[in-house]
Amino acid sequence: MAESYTIIKCSVHQLRPGFELGESVFSPDGSGLLHAGTILTERQIARILNYGLDSVRIRQTVLTPEAAPEPAAEAYCEPDMAAGVSEQENEFSGLYSRCVQDMKKCFTLIRLERHLDYALLDTLVDSVARLASRGIAATALLHTLTRTEDYLVHHSVNVGILAHIIGELSGVFSLIQQRNLILAGILHDIGKLEVSSKVLYKNGALTEDELAAVRQHPAIAFKFFSRYKEIPESVRFGVLQHHERDDGSGYPLHTNAAKNHPIAKVLGIADVYDAMTSKKTYGQEISPFAAIDTIQADMFAGKFSPDYSTPFLHELCQTLICRYVTLSDGRTGQLVFWNRSGKENCLVRFSDGKILDVSQQPGLKIAKLVC
Ligand SMILES: [Fe+2]
Repeated sequence: MAESYTIIKCSVHQLRPGFELGESVFSPDGSGLLHAGTILTERQIARILNYGLDSVRIRQTVLTPEAAPEPAAEAYCEPDMAAGVSEQENEFSGLYSRCVQDMKKCFTLIRLERHLDYALLDTLVDSVARLASRGIAATALLHTLTRTEDYLVHHSVNVGILAHIIGELSGVFSLIQQRNLILAGILHDIGKLEVSSKVLYKNGALTEDELAAVRQHPAIAFKFFSRYKEIPESVRFGVLQHHERDDGSGYPLHTNAAKNHPIAKVLGIADVYDAMTSKKTYGQEISPFAAIDTIQADMFAGKFSPDYSTPFLHELCQTLICRYVTLSDGRTGQLVFWNRSGKENCLVRFSDGKILDVSQQPGLKIAKLVC
């Protein structure tokens, strides 16, 4: 079986979600819109159409005659959970592992030598951009990966990926700003490298002094960045304000929507989503379904901007349908219907073909995303 690819010109009117860009797309005035390698979503196609472009170049897979797909044995095939991970997932996982190792190196240099290796960061940003180019599907893939290093290392890579995805979905960031979102994402918690890990991963409530020390981490990072002119101002402010909230309830400076940088607003959502859904040394991760509820509630409470939360939550809900979930009673099945508008409805199909309306079962809920 031989497979290769070619870059072809494609009319913007023929673009469909799932097409992969073969070359970066630029607006008529020369500013970057989308990276090469981006898997197009409906929203991104609408953005391309809005700019009045005639065509873009897309990557097309070419199969040799002998590699042509076999006719399907059956017209319809039930998804098979036991089929194992796909080649795409393996590729994602391999690149993710390299990012984690680079992130670890970067943190070691900061911790031991107080040195920021900008060349290493540049490589890391490129790799994170490749992971994030899978769009919202990358968010679900993150839940399937095995964690090999400290929580902070994985969390930093994840927030870089999520920040890029959220920024891309909002459609308001230029290519340069998208890159800055990743840089700010992977560096957002470096101030925690100066906080004792006993405090950071303490099993139980922090004392007032401990909490005050942890809450200094955005300001510590901001001060550290002042030595590096390569770090853009938007990244410095994004990191400083990533725990600030639109209603002024955050920290360290209690700034509100008018003062908080757009990069900080995106980081806040990415940070909360990953922190809630990640397994830490102490404490249990919660399902993406519960994290969605929390971010939505915070958006309604005026903490997160709908400009960034709404497109992210919408796409996330769509990508979770048809995936496998574990219910709070331990049973696993496929989420075949999920409607969050108004009264929540949720159907899960089990391996025997039976479908359960979870929303009609008192006390039953989705506990975990399996794959
Ligand atoms: Fe933080």
